[in-house]
Amino acid sequence: MLITGANAGIGKDVARQLALRPEFARIYLACRNQDRALKAKAELEAATGRRIFDIVLMDVADLDSVRAGLARIDGSVDALVMNAGVISPQSMDLTADGVTTLFATNVLGHVVLLEGLLNEDRLGEVAVFVGSEAARGVPKLRMKRPSFVSTSADELATVIDGSYFASRKPDFNLAFGQAKYIGALWMAYLARQHPDRRFLTVSPGNTTGTQAPNDLPLPMRIAAKYVMPTLGLAHKLDVGAKRLVDGVTDPTLSSGVFYASAANTLKGPLVNQMEIFPDFANPTFQDHANEAIHRFITE
Ligand SMILES: NC(=O)c1ccc[n+]([C@@H]2O[C@H](COP(=O)([O-])OP(=O)(O)OC[C@H]3O[C@@H](n4cnc5c(N)ncnc54)[C@H](OP(=O)(O)O)[C@@H]3O)[C@@H](O)[C@H]2O)c1
Repeated sequence: MLITGANAGIGKDVARQLALRPEFARIYLACRNQDRALKAKAELEAATGRRIFDIVLMDVADLDSVRAGLARIDGSVDALVMNAGVISPQSMDLTADGVTTLFATNVLGHVVLLEGLLNEDRLGEVAVFVGSEAARGVPKLRMKRPSFVSTSADELATVIDGSYFASRKPDFNLAFGQAKYIGALWMAYLARQHPDRRFLTVSPGNTTGTQAPNDLPLPMRIAAKYVMPTLGLAHKLDVGAKRLVDGVTDPTLSSGVFYASAANTLKGPLVNQMEIFPDFANPTFQDHANEAIHRFITE
């Protein structure tokens, strides 16, 4: 079992919940900072009474770091949760690979990680990409649904290198939704290529108790931390993390599907998003997402 971004927030609670299930004998915590990873490991051992956590240092925004981390993982991983993520105005800056930090962290590093495991036949049964309701828009929060002229690989590539916003007002919320949209399409593409394994996108829903709001502009930070929980628009950390645990452990959830909250909601039962936004079921769009992503991955 390997979880990226496992030292904080939802990823750390996924590690805790999975460790409470005896069938998980080893959990890799893939983190970018050794001190934060060691602290999380000690807290997880104390919370679960199990000494099954191994740290893998990996900055998912840096493809060489992902490859180096992959080489240090011993043997196979039975399940992968691609959880590391960022959302902030600063995350629109470009990495050395010429992609937005937002896209590199949420998607591109995970592509190198998962495809590296698949190429070496080191993935067991299931991979879960952590999605977001932002990928199909949330009108209630004025988060726009990603919308493209043709959804071609060329057009999707403009999201990845940030040029989509060259002639538009920067909108990091939309960029986040677009990244999660492309990630969900890529997972559906992989599900078609590998019918022997399960590939799911699952959103934790609007979840409190994480460090995600810390980099947001002040009004959004206040809304995320205080207003939305008070209005009943968010659920607690263990509820959000449990959705991802279900993605790993519940065989009734179907490969290739993006699961998140019902239309215009941010919590509650998981619903197949293809029924809300047919783009996710479109194999041509899935192929285009995969093609656009691979333009930015060089050896
Ligand atoms: N919270 C929500 O309401 C919500 C809703 C929908 C989707 N999500 C998704 O859920 C996932 C987890 O979010 P969260 O709310 O738990 O956020 P969080 O508390 O900020 O945790 C994010 C984790 O990702 C790690 N991370 C960030 N950049 C990284 C990098 N370059 N390399 C390796 N690790 C990196 C962070 O490590 P550091 O401590 O080193 O920064 C941290 O462990 C994200 O994919 C997010 O988009 C969250």
